Amino acid sequence: MRVTVIGCGYLGATHAACMAELGYDVLGVEIDTAKRESLAAGKVPFYEPELEDLLAEHVGSGRLRFTDSYEEAGGFGSIHFVCVGTPQRRDGLGADVQHVDAAIDSLAPYLTEGALVVGKSTVPVGTAARLAARLGDGAELAWNPEFLREGFAVRDTLQPDRLVFGVASEHAEARLREFYAAVIGTGTPVVVTDFATAELVKVSANAFLATKISFINAIAEVCEAAGADVVHLADAIGHDDRIGRKFLNAGVGFGGGCLPKDIRGFLSRAGELGVEDTMSFLRQVDDINLRQRTRVVQIATAMLGGNVARARVAVWGAAFKPHSDDVRDSPALSIAGQLHLHGAQVSVFDPKANETALAKFPTLDYAESALAAARDADLLLHLTEWPEFREVDPVALGDVVRRKQVLDGRNRLDLDAWRAAGWATRALGRGSRR
Ligand code: UGA
Repeated sequence: MRVTVIGCGYLGATHAACMAELGYDVLGVEIDTAKRESLAAGKVPFYEPELEDLLAEHVGSGRLRFTDSYEEAGGFGSIHFVCVGTPQRRDGLGADVQHVDAAIDSLAPYLTEGALVVGKSTVPVGTAARLAARLGDGAELAWNPEFLREGFAVRDTLQPDRLVFGVASEHAEARLREFYAAVIGTGTPVVVTDFATAELVKVSANAFLATKISFINAIAEVCEAAGADVVHLADAIGHDDRIGRKFLNAGVGFGGGCLPKDIRGFLSRAGELGVEDTMSFLRQVDDINLRQRTRVVQIATAMLGGNVARARVAVWGAAFKPHSDDVRDSPALSIAGQLHLHGAQVSVFDPKANETALAKFPTLDYAESALAAARDADLLLHLTEWPEFREVDPVALGDVVRRKQVLDGRNRLDLDAWRAAGWATRALGRGSRR
């Protein structure tokens, strides 16, 4: 079977390579020339473990190709996945769906009779119904949201926790079941529903995850005030199956291209639907999250004796999370940027995101290693929990810094070992273990 993937950014490039892996002939449509040429050469234009090998393999075998022609895409296959981006609107009010609209309008004239167009992008509820009307009679629409995490994109696509099919006919459901038969065959649950529910499932899942993180970050502040330990607390409540330990890691909070954008988009759409009051807690989820960044800047300032200007601050981590080079809405960079604005000399190191960070925040200094970033530092901030940071020996590091002070913004360092090596330590939500 031949399928197309419209939009080959993070989601689309992964989907295209994974569908080729499932045995389909895939044509990716990407209008950005640099991105398209990179993909066609088998090179992923961002960092995602496992994707590079998969892409190179299927580009090499000819099962995966790329084009900028919607006409070619329309004639290529009968299933078309729409994976274009829906970034936050400039006014901050919701997701910008102009690329989805443009993709549908560009593809529609070339669709063959009986084509199935499958939306995967994250969109405000109501978008699919609007697009279905625009597609006309010859083609059908389905909504099949994607739940992949950056850093685990290939695994999450090939072995997802669930598949959600938002459909308007049994025929569309049958086609999706047939298409995903290999994935369903491994026991993946399928939820079949209407367009609106499928769209809402996606943003609800992200809103829930964001709420869980802000919940534990709020509790972390209580722990600090009360002299309690949020890590032990999360372990204890996480043993309850109904709560679960995942996404209860207190720290500098969530960033990236999805969670922050999706809760704001959800709030804004709820407002349009007249149910803003009921969703207003999401505003607090957002506020608690952003508050973590301000708190770290305040704690860092206090650790520097109130004198940030001319202090040297080492920042470990720039990506919004480990195993990614994505710096969109990254807590680490936001904190680094604020300290820089207050006059600190900030040296950042991230194992994969130095380049993407430099492109976005050129005023910060970027070091070539964790050790180089820490040289002559008055304070070290651990803000993205790459595994290699846990391996650094605090004794050896103590010899290169000016002052042995560390703030663990992710609660992942073995602070007992750091204290034993003579460091003054701070963590978030660990009032009993300062
Ligand atoms: C998120 C969702 O997890 C995916 O299911 C979804 O498909 C995706 O958004 C999307 O909408 O496309 P992602 O943005 O890749 O995936 O990252 P997450 O792993 O969810 O992490 C988000 C942020 O939360 C990171 O900054 C991470 O450091 C932070 N986080 C996560 C915490 O602060 N504490 C935790 O316990 C867990």
